[in-house]
Amino acid sequence: MGTKLIIGADKGIAHAMAIALHERGDDVLAATMGDGADLVERGIAVEPGVNVTSDDAVAALAKRVANEDLTLDWLVNVAGVMFLDTIDTVDYDDVRNQFEINTVGPLRAVRALRDRLADGSKVGIFTSRVGSLNDNGSGGDYAYRISKAAANMVALNLSIDLAKEGVAVQALHPGLVNTNLLDVMNPEDKEKAAAILATPESAAEGIISVLDQLTVETAGKFQHGNGDILPW
Ligand SMILES: NC(=O)c1ccc[n+]([C@@H]2O[C@H](COP(=O)([O-])OP(=O)(O)OC[C@H]3O[C@@H](n4cnc5c(N)ncnc54)[C@H](OP(=O)(O)O)[C@@H]3O)[C@@H](O)[C@H]2O)c1
Repeated sequence: MGTKLIIGADKGIAHAMAIALHERGDDVLAATMGDGADLVERGIAVEPGVNVTSDDAVAALAKRVANEDLTLDWLVNVAGVMFLDTIDTVDYDDVRNQFEINTVGPLRAVRALRDRLADGSKVGIFTSRVGSLNDNGSGGDYAYRISKAAANMVALNLSIDLAKEGVAVQALHPGLVNTNLLDVMNPEDKEKAAAILATPESAAEGIISVLDQLTVETAGKFQHGNGDILPW
């Protein structure tokens, strides 16, 4: 059995995924920005200091994976940020920042680790339903929407290129999940939404099930953690 690499595992859904996969007996490598101490305490292998905007940090991760001669069963980029804006407040530096993390980040990670994938490997790229062109009925949130729409294209493009090597790539939406990502929401709105938000653990369970079932034949789609195929 190969290794499941989860990138962005300091907290939130990725953190819950790393723990759930480890608890079911899979070999997990969790890439974290910080030291990932609580994951290490659980016996999970951690590569710390992995900022997906850094060529050097991602290269160091790839070097470790190569040095340990790991084959990646799964490469899942969960790392992401969300800052909200309107047509009046959108800030172009923030557009570039979110694009660098949410869009270029997963491309950088997959490209650097591509030679550690094998026939049958799976790549998951966390985007967001907010990045769907067809599903956008409310406007606003320019920087986040732009970055996630473009991340969908990263996933679709990779799915075409890597299918030739037997690697299945999917764009993933975890649902609405109660994590620190939503701290940018107005607290009253977050409070109101709390009842309909999934926990990181249940979102992790859904995404793991989707990735367990993913094949090259079913790849190249934008998929919700509940299994539904979403419009691009
Ligand atoms: N929560 C939702 O409702 C929801 C809905 C749709 C899509 N998503 C997507 O799901 C993914 C996970 O979000 P979440 O809800 O679990 O949020 P979260 O709790 O804020 O987790 C985000 C993770 O990404 C890491 N990260 C941020 N910038 C990074 C960078 N430059 N390099 C490496 N890691 C970085 C964070 O590390 P630090 O802790 O060190 O900052 C954190 O571990 C994101 O891509 C998000 O856009 C979430």
